[in-house]
Amino acid sequence: MQFSTFKNNLDNWQGTSLIFGISDKDIENQLENIRFIIDPKILLKKVNQKKFKGKKGETLNLEFLDQRLETLTIFGLGESTAIEINDIKNYLANIIRTIVDKEEKTSILLPRELINSEEKIKLLAESVRLSAFKDNRFNNKRDKKKILKEIEFLNLKEFENISFKETEYICEGVELARRLVAAPPNSLTPIEMSLEASKIAKDLGLEIKILGKKECEDLGMGAYLAVAKGSDLEPKFIHLTLKSKNPVKEKIVLVGKGLTFDSGGYNLKVGASQIEMMKYDMGGSASVLGAAKSLGNIKPDGLEIHFIVAACENMINGSAVHPGDVIKASNGKTIEINNTDAEGRLTLADALTYASNLKPDSIIDLATLTGAIVVALGNDVAGFWTNDNSMANDLKTASSQVGEALWQMPLQKSYKDGLKSHIADMKNTGPRAGGSITAALFLEEFFDSSIKWAHIDIAGTCWTDKNKGINPSGATGYGVKTLVQWIKNKQEANK
Ligand code: BES
Ligand code: MG
Ligand code: ZN
Repeated sequence: MQFSTFKNNLDNWQGTSLIFGISDKDIENQLENIRFIIDPKILLKKVNQKKFKGKKGETLNLEFLDQRLETLTIFGLGESTAIEINDIKNYLANIIRTIVDKEEKTSILLPRELINSEEKIKLLAESVRLSAFKDNRFNNKRDKKKILKEIEFLNLKEFENISFKETEYICEGVELARRLVAAPPNSLTPIEMSLEASKIAKDLGLEIKILGKKECEDLGMGAYLAVAKGSDLEPKFIHLTLKSKNPVKEKIVLVGKGLTFDSGGYNLKVGASQIEMMKYDMGGSASVLGAAKSLGNIKPDGLEIHFIVAACENMINGSAVHPGDVIKASNGKTIEINNTDAEGRLTLADALTYASNLKPDSIIDLATLTGAIVVALGNDVAGFWTNDNSMANDLKTASSQVGEALWQMPLQKSYKDGLKSHIADMKNTGPRAGGSITAALFLEEFFDSSIKWAHIDIAGTCWTDKNKGINPSGATGYGVKTLVQWIKNKQEANK
């Protein structure tokens, strides 16, 4: 998708499709702003006829108004001084989805006081592109119809030199994450995931190491390998490194849960547990690889960033792990696997130990870890845990800048008792109550506690059944934007 700003006088505008945002005050006067395309009097008549009042989220679609203008969508901003950028993003997203296969190009005109910074314009561009996303890889729908590929912002003269390059890099990362998550489990296998990572490395100059089963055994990764045992597919441990040209001021590791399918294992997912959706159990790793793609292009300076995925499947066969098995993780701790469906934390245990051995300043892991987080926060908000207050603030800032809702959860130490085992150092599963908290407490056992760490549970946010805001139904790519923004903020702070 191409973005541009219209540089001439509006009287010279030659487009055929326009999206126009107006506030709820003095509509007549605001319609004057598009007199270059349509007689405001005629338009006012239509607007009144349809009882359009410019209220927040109200939209009015007008088609074939004259020979040239094919579609005009007017949408309401309410009291325009009070409106938030996230609302505008969502309204635009809904409009874009109605024209995405009807127009090749559209222009957007908004009140100047609302888009008064490059940052806001870029956020709008990003949400337009992400809301227009379609994925027809697995069907025979040929897009014979038109497809929206050009967006032009009107009346932004003083921003005419704005570059949308970084916006494109961020969108490419989110789109990659969405494609990886949406790919079915017979298509995106652990080996395919490692090939995707290799492609990022090759295209963007990252270093890559892929460990097979044997190498993971040599590192003593008994927790990760226990999960992979029940599958016919070989596990692939992926490690990408993005180096800095200039001296490294901070080393960061991003870890993603990479279960290309989670059947539950012998604690099989039955009933309403949505086993058929468990292709998205690699959502964390998709966001981490998406961030690798974005950051590989953005090339933040002064930071060394590692991206780690312990990819495998949780399946059942004769050599699958038994409920009750005791295994040893690569940091030497033993774990009684009292539930084979709590597999993500086992793969993360060895991935976090590996991350910790890289001696980074901070680690963030992302995982579709627990159904409990969906019960707690629903599908719009992800939960995070951290051992460091500055990390908490930085993550809250980054997520709110990009509009990904994120809520801090407690590392409630008293719940650690729930993980006590009679036979091993710990169990992998605590009681049902507070299930996403005990999962976070489990993870905390597997890295050096002097490292700043955050765990983000995206089980609720990585997928949406319906179109919602800037997310078309399906994979959302949640997390990519927050990770990239968090890194960009770090780079700024280190300057
Ligand atoms: N992948 C699931 C978590 C999940 C559930 C993600 C629903 C998305 C939607 C995870 O591996 C899992 O099965 N967790 C169990 C843990 C339990 C056995 C302690 C769960 O949440 O039920
Ligand atoms: Mg599971
Ligand atoms: Zn899982």
